[in-house]
Amino acid sequence: MPAIDREHLPQHVGIIMDGNGRWAKQRGLKRTEGHKEGARVFRRICEYANDIGIRFITFYAFSTENWARPPEEVSAIMELLREYLFEAEERKRENEARGMRIRFIGSQEGLPQDIVRLMNQAQEESLSATKTIVNIAVNYGGRQEILHSVRGLAQLVSAGEKKPEKITLEDIGNGLYTAGQPDPDLIIRPSGEYRLSNFLIWQAAYAEFWYSDVLWPDFKEADFDQALESYQKRNRRFGGI
Ligand code: FPP
Repeated sequence: MPAIDREHLPQHVGIIMDGNGRWAKQRGLKRTEGHKEGARVFRRICEYANDIGIRFITFYAFSTENWARPPEEVSAIMELLREYLFEAEERKRENEARGMRIRFIGSQEGLPQDIVRLMNQAQEESLSATKTIVNIAVNYGGRQEILHSVRGLAQLVSAGEKKPEKITLEDIGNGLYTAGQPDPDLIIRPSGEYRLSNFLIWQAAYAEFWYSDVLWPDFKEADFDQALESYQKRNRRFGGI
């Protein structure tokens, strides 16, 4: 009997897709092969989340810090993204039927122009879908996101449109890429690492964490279920008692 209570799913799940490099190394493969497998698992978990009725899911695909990786690795990740975007275009009817909306969070600055175009196209084409919002974090950093929001507010202040003492927590949240979405309730990080790594740092203030030693390319629907089960057993108090 499934142990997940589908009536009480987390509204928003964040996933840090980690361990691709180690997975490849264990098999004597190039790191890029790990990312390739990781991109396959991303598709599966995306569809699974949609099947079971998760409303919002955010995947960490490429961080602002990931530019420091060898150029071949950066290009390989960009190529996987490109392939996914072409595929999203081919499968737009299926995604529409699934109610899957694709969104990108992060800065478009510095990304290859064709990818930016494809990203915008995928976002526009899936605008009307409402069952599952899939956020893909690309060129994303949580601190950079907060800075972006704060700069927007500073501009309002300098234009005399906002008083500093009137700035609220909601104002900061409304300037983030995830504006209008609920904060993540659950953050999943496989591969035995226990860090947030600049992922949704503002939004994750009250998120529950679930860690596992499984490497992302080996991550299965059953692991996702385990994370949900664990989440459902916890007692969230949000600072209360
Ligand atoms: C972290 O593992 C993973 C990444 C930095 C890249 C994740 C990207 C993908 C799964 C492909 C994205 C594509 C789409 C379509 C969303 P790591 O390389 O840091 O692993 P390691 O810690 O074992 O070295």
